[in-house]
Amino acid sequence: MLNGKEIVLIISGGIAAYKSLDLIRRLKERGARVVPVMTSGARKFVTPLAVGALAAEKVFTDLFDREAEHDVGHIRLARDHDLILIAPTTANLMAKMVHGIADDLATAVLLATDKPVLAAPAMNPKMWQNPATVRNLETLQKRGIRFVGPASGEMAEKGEAGVGRMSEPLEIVAAAEAVLRDQRAEAGELPLAGRHVLITSGPTHEPIDPVRYIANRSSGKQGHALAEAAYAAGARVTLVSGPVELPDPANITVVPVESAADMLKAVESHLPADIVIMAAAVADWRMASEGAQKIKKDGSGKPPALNLIENPDILATIGHHTSLRPDLLIGFAAETQNLLQNARSKLERKKADWIIANDVSPETGIMGGDANTVRLVSKDGVEDWPQMDKTDVARQIIARAAAALTGDKGS
Ligand code: C5P
Repeated sequence: MLNGKEIVLIISGGIAAYKSLDLIRRLKERGARVVPVMTSGARKFVTPLAVGALAAEKVFTDLFDREAEHDVGHIRLARDHDLILIAPTTANLMAKMVHGIADDLATAVLLATDKPVLAAPAMNPKMWQNPATVRNLETLQKRGIRFVGPASGEMAEKGEAGVGRMSEPLEIVAAAEAVLRDQRAEAGELPLAGRHVLITSGPTHEPIDPVRYIANRSSGKQGHALAEAAYAAGARVTLVSGPVELPDPANITVVPVESAADMLKAVESHLPADIVIMAAAVADWRMASEGAQKIKKDGSGKPPALNLIENPDILATIGHHTSLRPDLLIGFAAETQNLLQNARSKLERKKADWIIANDVSPETGIMGGDANTVRLVSKDGVEDWPQMDKTDVARQIIARAAAALTGDKGS
């Protein structure tokens, strides 16, 4: 989500500056350009050579650098980029920002900027708790500066622990993505700004006894991709997910569940939503009663009979709900035969607005794979979509859903 974004990274003087090297890598991995500015304190902890080599950029250090002033200047550094990120942010730098002191390049950039500023503080817990810092934090937050962390844990100083550690690079990256996305949402550039989207994803696990369960091959890739696409489109997103191997997407409320019954409860408790997309492969059956003890072989050579009952149908429950039904309810139909017929009957039976139908016969490689070939089935007819990456399928579904919700016919 940082593709093409230009980020000025101000590194101030703290031991956490070593983590900024990794942060540069992470930002660049996501497609951002990183323009580093280092304070004199920062240069005592990490070298401009290392920072410049990782960023593949010139490192700016001096306010009165003839070459830089001529070429870029602090005003252009402050204005020509998308985000000013300060990592680490020392207590001293926060205090200078509060008072508008501009006695070096970093503080001059911060005083001159009209771009969003994100700060990742790092300091000794006593400095963080000091009333002066507490007050400075409040003041800066009121001015619209966003903060990520600090986290709690061990300090570099021997035997000290508490709140003051700089957040990990990936958390800072997620916070940077959130700042930039929120800015676009506020500017009215994102179609789902202010909307709530709830998505179910992954398989469910239905316990047989304390150690065994019934499951299916769903990876959660499509559902998770939908959650990320909805977030990128400006929505507040809740992802109710069965057990998957995937990392939790950033900036999204993830509600982990195991069984279909848990999933239904979680969905109901997080509604209302404007759009609900049920991409989870919910198990159709569960044990009539879950064994309290592990089922043992009884020596007869006969397997035990598993007494199954039907699970609640979450999609149908929400589809028929009088108060909780969203404006747009989308289900999936994973089939190995009679795809369209089954999708149409699900549309009616479960009272969904759209069914995204896909053929999951083993030879398609869709279950667990990265690509998907889907058909969008609605009361208006059937659309065949070409084979796409699951992330592209997700973006298309979200774009269409946003258009349907806002009455915009274009996709
Ligand atoms: O009936 P089938 O399982 O094929 O329906 C698939 C659609 O219904 C998917 O959107 C799935 O998430 C949803 N579903 C559900 N609860 C169930 C079974 C399926 O929400 N118990």
